Amino acid sequence: MERDKRVMSPSYTRTEPIVAREGWGCYVHDIDGNVFLDLSSGMFVLNYGYSHPKLIRAVTQQATKLTHFAGTDFYYESQVELAERLVELTPGNFAKRVYFGNSGAEAVEAAFKCARWHTRRPRMIAYTGAFHGRTFGAMSLSSVNIVHHRYFAPLVPGVTFMPYPYCYRCPFKQSYPGCDFACIDFIRESLVKVVPPEEVAAVIAEPIQGSSGYIIPPPEYYPMLKELCEEHDWLFIADEIQTGLGRTGKMFAMEHWGVVPDIVCVAKALAGGMAPIGATIARAEVMDWEPGAHASTFGGNLIACAAALAGLDILKKQKLVKRAAKLGALALKRLREMGERSNLVGEVRGKGLLLAVEMVKDKRTKERAIKERNAVVKAALDHGLIVFRGGRSVIRIAPPLIISRGELELGLDILDDALREVGRKC
Ligand SMILES: Cc1ncc(COP(=O)(O)O)c(C=O)c1O
Repeated sequence: MERDKRVMSPSYTRTEPIVAREGWGCYVHDIDGNVFLDLSSGMFVLNYGYSHPKLIRAVTQQATKLTHFAGTDFYYESQVELAERLVELTPGNFAKRVYFGNSGAEAVEAAFKCARWHTRRPRMIAYTGAFHGRTFGAMSLSSVNIVHHRYFAPLVPGVTFMPYPYCYRCPFKQSYPGCDFACIDFIRESLVKVVPPEEVAAVIAEPIQGSSGYIIPPPEYYPMLKELCEEHDWLFIADEIQTGLGRTGKMFAMEHWGVVPDIVCVAKALAGGMAPIGATIARAEVMDWEPGAHASTFGGNLIACAAALAGLDILKKQKLVKRAAKLGALALKRLREMGERSNLVGEVRGKGLLLAVEMVKDKRTKERAIKERNAVVKAALDHGLIVFRGGRSVIRIAPPLIISRGELELGLDILDDALREVGRKC
C-alpha cells in the first residue's frame, strides 16, 4: 500500500486495505493469507464469481489462437456472435445494432454520441444522483458526487438534471403513493421553463441508481417517463451497467417496469472480469451513424468476446437469473428482519441480488448515519466480509450470482453481527 501511494494516481478512492492475491468462487484471498467473502462481486463485475473454470478455459483457449485483430477495420466471428446474443437478450423484439467499447463509461459515451447523431438534437436529460462514468461525456451526465465535477468544467453542455424518484427521501417531501408523481410534473414544468423539448435527444437513466445506493423507482415511474419520451420524440437510454445481465432477477432491470429502452448500455459483468468490455445496444434505426463516426482499437477484443460468450452460456446453463430472483427474495426478507431489529436501519430495499441497507441515526427524522455505516462496513471487513458503500449512508450488497444459499446466509450473519456491534456502541 505504501508503494501504491508513491506511484499510483491519488484519484482512486481506496477505502479498504485489501491487497488481493487470488480469488475462487465468492472468496478473495489477500497477500497476508486472509480470506474474504465478497458480497460486492469485485464491484459488481464478478457475477460468475472469481476464476470460474469455464471462463478461464474460454479465455486460455482464445489466447492460444488469436488475441488481437483490428476489429475496427477487419472482422472476426466472436464479435458478431456476441452482438447477436446481446441483440437477442436485450428487451424489444426489433432489429438492433451493437457497438463495443472497453468500459461502462465508453458504453455511455457511445450512447450519448449516437443519440445526438441520430436525432441531431443537442440536449440530454439525466438525473441527480446518477453515475455513468468519468470520461467527459459520461461525467457530464452524472451528478452523484461533486468530486466527479470539481475543476473539470466546462463539462459537455446541454445536460439538464431532473430529480430521481428517491421515494425514501422524496426531493419534493411527498410520500409515495399519495404523491401524485410530483417528480414527473417537475419534468413537465421544466419543459415550459428550462428545456425546449424539441432540442432534447435522449433521457438517460439507471433503472436502479447504483452509486447512490440502489434507489428503486416506484412501478409507475418508468412507464410515465416513457410516455413523455414518446410525446417529445426523445430516445430512452437505460444504463444497465450495474443492473444488467441477471443481477436483479430479470435479464435487464428495466424489465421490472415493462419499459423497452431505445439504447441499452452494459459493461461490468459482461466478460465476468476476464477482460474489459462495454457494449451499447441500440435500435437498428437509431444506431445509424456513418463509418468512422465512432470506434475503439480494443473495443470488443477477442479475449473479452470469448469471456463474454462463455459468461452468457454460464448465465443460461446455471439459470442464474432465476437464481438471483430466488436468493434475492430470501436475502431481502432476512435483511428486513435485521432492519426491524436495528435502530440504525431506515430502509432495506432490493431486487434480486442487488440489495441495499440505508442507515439512519433516527428512523423518524432519517438523519443519515454516515459514520455508523462506515463502521459497519469496517466491522464486516474485520470479520471477513466485503460489502460496499453506496450513496451517503447506504450499504450495497451484490453477491456473485453463483453464490450458494449457505454462503449468502454466512455473509448476512456476519453483516448482522457487524450491525449489532456498531449498534451497541451508539
Ligand atoms: C451505472 C454505471 N454506469 C457507468 C459506470 C462506469 O463504468 P466504468 O467504471 O467501467 O467506466 C458505472 C461504474 O461504476 C456504473 O455503475
